Amino acid sequence: MGQGILTPGFHRVSAAATDRAAGTSASPGAAAGTLYCESVPLDRIADDVGTPCYVYSAGTVRERYTQLDAMLAGVPHRIHYTLKANSNAGLLRVLREAGAGVDVVSGGELARALRAGFPARDVIFGGVGKTDEELADALRAGVLLVNVESESEVRALDRIAGQMGKGTRAPVSIRVNPEITVEAAHAYIKTGERGHKFGVPFDEVLHVARIAAALPNVDLLGLDMHLGSQLSRIDPYREGATRLAGLHATLVREGIDTLRYLDVGGGLGVRYDSEEPPDLGRFAALVLPIVRETGLQLIMEPGRFVVGNAAALVTRVLYRKRSGGKTYLVCDAGMTELLRPSHYGAFHRVVPVVSDGTAGESIVADVVGPVCESGDFLALDRAIEAVDPGDLLAVCDVGAYGYAMASNYNSRLRPPEVLVDGTAYAVVTRRETLNDLVQREVNEPDWRH
Ligand code: LLP
Repeated sequence: MGQGILTPGFHRVSAAATDRAAGTSASPGAAAGTLYCESVPLDRIADDVGTPCYVYSAGTVRERYTQLDAMLAGVPHRIHYTLKANSNAGLLRVLREAGAGVDVVSGGELARALRAGFPARDVIFGGVGKTDEELADALRAGVLLVNVESESEVRALDRIAGQMGKGTRAPVSIRVNPEITVEAAHAYIKTGERGHKFGVPFDEVLHVARIAAALPNVDLLGLDMHLGSQLSRIDPYREGATRLAGLHATLVREGIDTLRYLDVGGGLGVRYDSEEPPDLGRFAALVLPIVRETGLQLIMEPGRFVVGNAAALVTRVLYRKRSGGKTYLVCDAGMTELLRPSHYGAFHRVVPVVSDGTAGESIVADVVGPVCESGDFLALDRAIEAVDPGDLLAVCDVGAYGYAMASNYNSRLRPPEVLVDGTAYAVVTRRETLNDLVQREVNEPDWRH
């Protein structure tokens, strides 16, 4: 499946370097040669920093950001990259320089965003369960918007702003559950259907908006939604934007005319295998007129679309063995480095870094990790060029929700992240050390009675 699809930023360079030009249509899977990220061979990076390692293409991130910016050019808009997809400082710097704002969902992400140099006015603070402390941090920093998800949350925010005094105002956007059914790859990444935990149920939004408008320390500035993730169809965005625009119109009729932003969330999908990528022209044609009509500024909170195709996880094959009639490639990366296959049954292409091309022998194998779980796999029953212990594999399209969901399970050290920009590369997150692993633990417990 899908071995013939180009990953932007990653391409194979034959010994003769004939297909090296940027944007080549050579597939990472088919031709003979070495896989490069931009102008840097992945085996060179692996030799330098060791495996497993995440390798990112800065050029791909910029290109995707620019595509989105162009898609939204017809209306005043803001793009707030969603940190949860990947929050390393290297990528954040690329995005900040490209002009992005950010969307954060915890005090930790807020701190990362500020540390990466995003001004607080370019930060949206969302999330279904913010603590009082996180809400206070957001207000103290001076974020652009807090996306609230319930009546109790907007009341809490009002109280906290009041306690902070000095005329503190809480800039609020209401996360609406648009109650729209979407086609997403997995139930866990649908978020905007009726009964989901996220947002204010659609038929309660006006009630919450009236409360927000009346609270003394709150400025009601926006309406927000997020339909789900890895979406390829545009129609749900049109439907959702129409619903938000309808709510806005009702509020204006009631004399609540303070809104400035209409946030359609993230969710645009990427190609992992043979998925149809979202049609950006169609998005512009269907969604922008609805937003233009409202007079509000459009906000998007993309994660996966910006970074999903921008990375590969490079892993070394440790063992090749047979069991129960199956071939296993046991690698030095698994569910601790990339949880998506195990958690969502997600498909990621796995290709050799150095390939013989189609002439080589092909096998069908389970590509598995070293973790003590049968659910620890990167790919199942995958047709792949025969590789041997010591060979390098690249797991493709892991830029979104890859490193961000990595764990220390089995006391494994999280891998380094390497950013490639043209001919140069840099470690932007170093590999964890054994000391990192245990430094918060207390050997001699200080018992309290
Ligand atoms: N805004 C909100 C409120 C969100 O909850 C999310 C993602 C986004 C924006 C960005 O969505 P994106 O553009 O990346 O689709 N770990 C899962 C994906 C979880 C998505 C969570 N919310 C995965 O690996 O597929």
